[in-house]
Order: sequence, then structure tokens, then C-alpha cells
Amino acid sequence: MPCLSSLKMLCCSVVTLGSLALAQASSNLTASTPDYNNLTVALVRAAPINWPSPILNKNWTGVSLDLNATVTYGVDLISKAAQDGANLVVFPETWFPGYPKGNDDAWIAEHIHDYVENSLVVGSAEWQLLLSAAKSSKVYLALGFSERTNSSIYMAQALISPCGELLLHRHKVRPSGGERDIWSDGTMDGLKVIDTPYGRWGMLECWEHYHPTMTFLMAAQLETLHIGAWPYQADFSDPLAGYYEDATLNTAAARIYAINSGAVTLFTSIGYASVISGLGLDLKTLNATTPYDEQPMLYYSINTTASHNTDSYNIDGEQSWGVLQEIQDAWPYYIPRVIGSYVLKKTVQIEALFAYAAGYNSSMGDSTSPLP
Ligand SMILES: *[C@@H]1O[C@H](CO)[C@@H](O)[C@H](O)[C@H]1NC(C)=O
Ligand SMILES: *[C@@H]1O[C@H](CO)[C@@H](O)[C@H](O)[C@H]1NC(C)=O
Ligand SMILES: *[C@@H]1O[C@H](CO)[C@@H](O)[C@H](O)[C@H]1NC(C)=O
Ligand SMILES: *[C@@H]1O[C@H](CO)[C@@H](O)[C@H](O)[C@H]1NC(C)=O
Ligand SMILES: *[C@@H]1O[C@H](CO)[C@@H](O)[C@H](O)[C@H]1NC(C)=O
Ligand SMILES: *[C@@H]1O[C@H](CO)[C@@H](O)[C@H](O)[C@H]1NC(C)=O
Ligand SMILES: *[C@@H]1O[C@H](CO)[C@@H](O)[C@H](O)[C@H]1NC(C)=O
Ligand SMILES: *[C@@H]1O[C@H](CO)[C@@H](O)[C@H](O)[C@H]1NC(C)=O
Repeated sequence: MPCLSSLKMLCCSVVTLGSLALAQASSNLTASTPDYNNLTVALVRAAPINWPSPILNKNWTGVSLDLNATVTYGVDLISKAAQDGANLVVFPETWFPGYPKGNDDAWIAEHIHDYVENSLVVGSAEWQLLLSAAKSSKVYLALGFSERTNSSIYMAQALISPCGELLLHRHKVRPSGGERDIWSDGTMDGLKVIDTPYGRWGMLECWEHYHPTMTFLMAAQLETLHIGAWPYQADFSDPLAGYYEDATLNTAAARIYAINSGAVTLFTSIGYASVISGLGLDLKTLNATTPYDEQPMLYYSINTTASHNTDSYNIDGEQSWGVLQEIQDAWPYYIPRVIGSYVLKKTVQIEALFAYAAGYNSSMGDSTSPLP
């Protein structure tokens, strides 16, 4: 019953076919087949379980995140979104188990064990619950999670189909600022756009929207829907917010992304959520003044009629191979053409983080073991 076989056929095989097959498939709709011309998105703006509230509260004293309870809550939100007509449910960056706002050295020393233990393992019981929720609610899921592998944690995004298939799984290429003390770098090969019956979808998280290495590569693949995830956003010009957590800045990045890609761009974060047109204009917003327990999700229905026959690239476009060559050719003569250390992949071992925590002396504010 959950994944009807007709739907299964459509979502599990047609996605790999060309747009002609998609058009044919959608011209023979059964009662259970979604209307691929109407994509309803639900952007989660509620907070994970035990995450310090309100949005800018960074007091982690006595706080312990709870992946298990957060997955249960996430599954409830997925089911509610589906009942409300959603086809895609998007979660903010590292919503599972929660973004460690204010993560300084003392936070690492105090909370890293808890954080690693509550990071999500792909294939675990919690992971399977999320896949099952996608299947039973027949929705796409765009997850933001801290992913634990045997030796490291990553800032991960995953796109899951209504059949519970993993369509895309990526790690943030270079976690930003202090994030890089905790999480390991991802790889460029995760920057992929996926064909769905609604159009071409891609994902980036937070500060990646500022980096041409990431935005250029994504926009070159001509998305029709861009799924952007940020951790949390305070209101516009909130005097208590750091510049990096003020909605002014990050929504600007999302608007520019929308203009460059032409894709309808989803801005998902705890507190602030919006849907931005391919022209960079707001279609719908809910800012942090709307309590997220009252409206845990922002809903919006997108007319995707024009998204089906989209090319996967444009050799004559602003984001194209020709433009890439132009950048390389015009590279200023005085800057050496050498690859520096910045792009070397940084891997942070969980063991090294634990050693840092073990050697930490709070009155010194330092550890006998260096931060990795
Ligand atoms: C829909 O597809 C089924 C199975 O291929 C076919 O038997 C049926 O005639 C089609 N219906 C329409 C309205 O095209
Ligand atoms: C942080 O939270 C703890 C536990 O609730 C409380 O005792 C402490 O006063 C808080 N600290 C600040 C600076 O608010
Ligand atoms: C799109 O889907 C939503 C959610 O099911 C529904 O409320 C809305 O009426 C639909 N829009 C159109 C134009 O069919
Ligand atoms: C979550 O916790 C409950 C209660 O401790 C336990 O029964 C359940 O198996 C846990 N779920 C997962 C996915 O670990
Ligand atoms: C991770 O650890 C598990 C259990 O110790 C082991 O079975 C698995 O092979 C390890 N995976 C990798 C990639 O090392
Ligand atoms: C935030 O949302 C409230 C309620 O919708 C609205 O009155 C206010 O103007 C919004 N603030 C900004 C800066 O958009
Ligand atoms: C959806 O967009 C198409 C053009 O792409 C338009 O022809 C159609 O009327 C729109 N549908 C609705 C319900 O607005
Ligand atoms: C922490 O540092 C202080 C100040 O240097 C020192 O007095 C204390 O012994 C240290 N504590 C431990 C457990 O090393």
C-alpha cells in the first residue's frame, strides 16, 4: 500500500529516462500518480529536539542533543507535510541532530562526544526510519544531517525519493570557519543535479552559496529547483546576531544564486524560510518573528509545467565551459598558477577530537592535545 506499484514504476525507473518518457508517463496519470506540474514543498523551520531556544540562544549548559527523538519528530513533520499536500520536505543544515551554534573550543571540549554519538550513520536504524517515512508518505526528502562514519563526521545532504531510494548523497565541500575544526571536507563529485519527474534538482548548504567553485558548477547543470539549506537565521538586522547569522546576508546569497541559475531557490533554515523565484524575488517567506512551534513548516506550491523539458547544460550560457576558460585565460599574470594548500582535503579524525576534549583545561581555555 505505501509505495503503490504504479508510483514505484514512475518514481523508481522513469527518473533515469529522458524528458520525453517523462512527458509520456505524466500524460497517463492514474489516481495515485502525483501531478508533476504542481510541486508542493514543505520547508522545515522548527528546531530539533533539545536544541537551545530561542534561535540565538547559545547556552549549551546541560544540553544534550537527541538524534533518536529528533528522527521521531522529523518523521512526524514528514507525515504532517504529506497530509498537507507536500511532495518534497526539506530540512535545514545539520538538522539531524542539530547545528552546534556557538561552537568554540570550549563547546568542542564539552560536547563533542555527545555530538558525534548523535550524528546520523547512513544505513542505521534512524536512517531507515527516514527512508521508510519518505516511502509511506510518498514524498521526496531533502535531509540536512551531521553524518558519522567510522572515523569522521561530515556536514551531509541527501535527496531521497518517494520510494525510499537514495538519489543523491553529498558532503559540504569545505565546512566554513569553525565548522572545519569539527567536520571533514567533502568532495566536488557530490555537486550533482538530479533528474526528477518535477525537473532538475540540486542542493548546496549555507556558505557554499558564496563560493563560485560550487555555485558555478551547480548552475552549469541547469537546475529548475535549487534546494538550499542553512542552519538557522535570526531576523533581518537583529542586533544580537552575528553577520553570518543575519537573514540579510544569506538571503542575498540565495537571491544571487537564483538569478545565476534561473532555478526556483528554496531557503530552508530554523526560523527563516523562503521560496525565491528564478528572478531572485520572494514568492513566499516566513521570518523568525513567526514562532516556529506555531508554523513548523513553510508550504508553497510551485508550477513546474515548464520544468520538464529543460536541457542539462547550455554551452552558450554564463555558467559554461567557455566562461570557465575565459576565467583561466584572464588569470592575472602576477598570481602563480599553482595549487595551494587550501584545496587539499581536510579530514578530521573523531579520535583527535576526543583527545582534544580529554586534554582540555577550562581554566586555561586550551588542551594538551591540539585541535586537529
Ligand atoms: C494508460 O496506460 C495503461 C497501461 O500502459 C494503458 O492500458 C491505458 O490504456 C493507458 N490509458 C490512457 C488513458 O492512455
Ligand atoms: C545557561 O544555562 C544554565 C542551565 O540552564 C544556567 O544555569 C546558566 O545560568 C545559563 N547561563 C547563562 C549565561 O545564561
Ligand atoms: C497544488 O497542490 C497543492 C497541494 O496539494 C494544492 O493545494 C493546490 O491547489 C495545487 N495547485 C494546482 C494549481 O493544482
Ligand atoms: C529510540 O529510543 C527508543 C527508546 O529508547 C528505542 O526503543 C528505539 O529503538 C530507538 N530508536 C532507534 C532508531 O534507535
Ligand atoms: C566501520 O566499522 C564497522 C564496525 O566496526 C566495520 O564493520 C566497517 O567495516 C567499518 N567501515 C569502514 C569503512 O572502515
Ligand atoms: C517578518 O514577518 C512579519 C510577519 O509576517 C512581518 O510583519 C515583518 O514585516 C517581517 N519582517 C521582515 C523584515 O520582513
Ligand atoms: C503553469 O505554467 C504554465 C506555463 O509554464 C501555464 O501555461 C499554466 O497556466 C500554469 N498553470 C497554472 C495552474 O497556473
Ligand atoms: C588547569 O590549568 C590551571 C592553570 O594553569 C592549573 O592550575 C590546573 O592544574 C590545570 N588543571 C589540570 C587538571 O591540569
